[in-house]
Amino acid sequence: MGGIVPPILNKLKKVRLDRFLSNAGIGSRKEVKLFIKKGKVSVNGQLIKNPSYQIDLQVDIVCFDDKPVLLKNNYYFMFNKPSGYITAIEDKNFPTVMEFFSSLPFYRRLFPVGRLDIDTEGLLIVTDDGMFAHRVSHPKWGVEKEYYAVVKGNIKNIDYTKYEITGIKLKDYQTKPFKIKLISTDDKKSEITITVKEGKYHIVKKIMEKLGHPVMYLKRIRIGSLLLDENLSPGEYRELTEEEIKHLKQVVNL
Ligand code: URA
Repeated sequence: MGGIVPPILNKLKKVRLDRFLSNAGIGSRKEVKLFIKKGKVSVNGQLIKNPSYQIDLQVDIVCFDDKPVLLKNNYYFMFNKPSGYITAIEDKNFPTVMEFFSSLPFYRRLFPVGRLDIDTEGLLIVTDDGMFAHRVSHPKWGVEKEYYAVVKGNIKNIDYTKYEITGIKLKDYQTKPFKIKLISTDDKKSEITITVKEGKYHIVKKIMEKLGHPVMYLKRIRIGSLLLDENLSPGEYRELTEEEIKHLKQVVNL
């Protein structure tokens, strides 16, 4: 069987099909039992509807929705999100970022880490590691998210350095401290980077609106130590390197 056998299974040779699938990240034990009964799972090309079917980890090939299930521990992708896509697993009205991952040659239950608005572009991590996703997006861990933004008007005359200490009071929410750097400005618009430590809904747009300079264009360029790879065009992704994963995990104590 391809991939690395996770520690939880590596002492076993034979294992129940439902246990194998839940350990491979397909779903909870209850969910995978339903998937098996619905006929989504085959072993060596044969449809298996019995959750207690014993599979041999060394030789059997298990497929979910016709794609082989690999036993690598977790996957981490860097995705350059294009505008026009919703950061969700499914949506009734709009295409989702997950559509870009449907051509992967194997099945994993992947999901996006945090959320970018439909019109925001740039760095999005997509993974199947729930704890990692939770910590990277939770304000408690304070992982920095840096955005490149084009905003309306000339921001030269605002003293934005004070917000590095105080944050700003929005209508219903006090933000954590954030940092703005001015790249260029003219009378009509300014180019900035803004670094926040939280993933609240529309946080950058709300901050800039409050400062009187609404966002015209927004792109995330960094999450913690991870910079958006300039070789990735919008809509493209690549796996994170071991080094990139290690640095991100260090920050969130994993
Ligand atoms: N802040 C926003 O306003 N939008 C995003 O997509 C991300 C951060």
